[in-house]
Amino acid sequence: AIKGFVFDLDGVITDSAEYHYIAWKNLAAGLGIELDRAFNEQLKGISRMDSLNRILAYGNQSDMYDAAQKEALAQKKNDEYVKLIQQVTPADILPGISELFADLKAAGIRIALASASKNGPFILERLGLMAQVDTIVDPAELANGKPDPEIFLKAAEQLNLAPAECVGVEDAEAGIEAINRAGMFSVGVGTKEAMKDADYYVTSTQELKLSEILRRAS
Ligand code: BG6
Ligand code: MG
Repeated sequence: AIKGFVFDLDGVITDSAEYHYIAWKNLAAGLGIELDRAFNEQLKGISRMDSLNRILAYGNQSDMYDAAQKEALAQKKNDEYVKLIQQVTPADILPGISELFADLKAAGIRIALASASKNGPFILERLGLMAQVDTIVDPAELANGKPDPEIFLKAAEQLNLAPAECVGVEDAEAGIEAINRAGMFSVGVGTKEAMKDADYYVTSTQELKLSEILRRAS
């Protein structure tokens, strides 16, 4: 039986994926690299430094910066991102998520957060959801980012559950791969193309219904 739900944050619980995109797009533009939404799909779920490395490779600038300069670029992106998320309020919880959380609570199913973002706890606080989440995986403690399953395996461990007792919810291609490799039932939010490896996918969060997910996961 399913006893835990492991949620990604950016793009699933709130639309902060859009703020990551804006901040990266602006940073890249300053380097003469133009990002579009198709390329951005490859950045979703990916850590800050891995994202920068992918952007530099995309712009054929991989060899142009040393480690210290890359740190400074990643910091600059984060400074803009942190400014953007100051405005987040509970009104920014994506449609259907509050209902899903309430249904999970009522069903006695525990909730974990598995976000690659070091800003995750801040956003959860701004959304007023901190008390509803049973455990948060600290991305700073991970050896490998998504698509490695480590963050989802850690979430199951922190919930004291086997991965097979958990459902993972993601909007990133790398995230769906991580859930699948962890041995959890994967639920994707996004386009059919981006979510092609998900066990079950919906195109928007308001379609996430606990009864339907449990029916499909069992
Ligand atoms: C993930 C986002 O949740 O967190 C990525 O999908 C982001 O876009 C990553 O790069 C790391 O976030 P942060 O806030 O630590 O830079
Ligand atoms: Mg995401």
